[in-house]
Amino acid sequence: MLASGRGSNLQALIDAIGEGRLHARIVGVFSDRRDALALQRARDAGLLAEALRARDFDTRLEFDAALFERVDAVQPDLIVCAGYMRLLGQPVVEAHRGRMLNIHPSLLPAFKGLRTHEQALAAGAPVHGASVHFVTPELDGGPVIAQARVPVRGDDDAPALAARVIAREHPLLVETLRLFAQGRVALQSEHVHLDRAPL
Ligand code: GRF
Repeated sequence: MLASGRGSNLQALIDAIGEGRLHARIVGVFSDRRDALALQRARDAGLLAEALRARDFDTRLEFDAALFERVDAVQPDLIVCAGYMRLLGQPVVEAHRGRMLNIHPSLLPAFKGLRTHEQALAAGAPVHGASVHFVTPELDGGPVIAQARVPVRGDDDAPALAARVIAREHPLLVETLRLFAQGRVALQSEHVHLDRAPL
């Protein structure tokens, strides 16, 4: 997993695996921030946790290459980005095509990028949510695998909406990874193949 921050999605996976709800193994957690709470959660769970600082590298491509050298060393079947806040360069994205997912807090293709809850409120969207999608070179633009929807209420502010969305992200990510673990989802050309109805 790649994470830059709080790591609540990571925790949801750790808990689901620990409780036998997800048959998977987290082989490493990698970050661009040494102070990411996600790394602490990983260490507390006895997982490999590593950070590399971007400022120790001259270019994004060099940073990516060093980071993914470590990621690839643990031979993940799947790479999950959850709150990884650094753009990934084309070479590593292409090299892991169909094996890298991101969870994004909006109903893509709506509200790409940052501050998605503010974007949804500003647009007056009646529903909002989260998406799990394959990572492609286009930011938040890869094929969507699964989504979870939440209502937007009249008195919502961004923190209230964010809390409602993150509560749905956790089961969405667990369920999507369960499909992967069962070999039931794959990227075929530019489309997602899912052998059941979308979540
Ligand atoms: C989540 O909202 C995720 O969708 C977005 O960043 C946030 C990460 O939360 N990409 P956490 O670090 O998993 O708690």
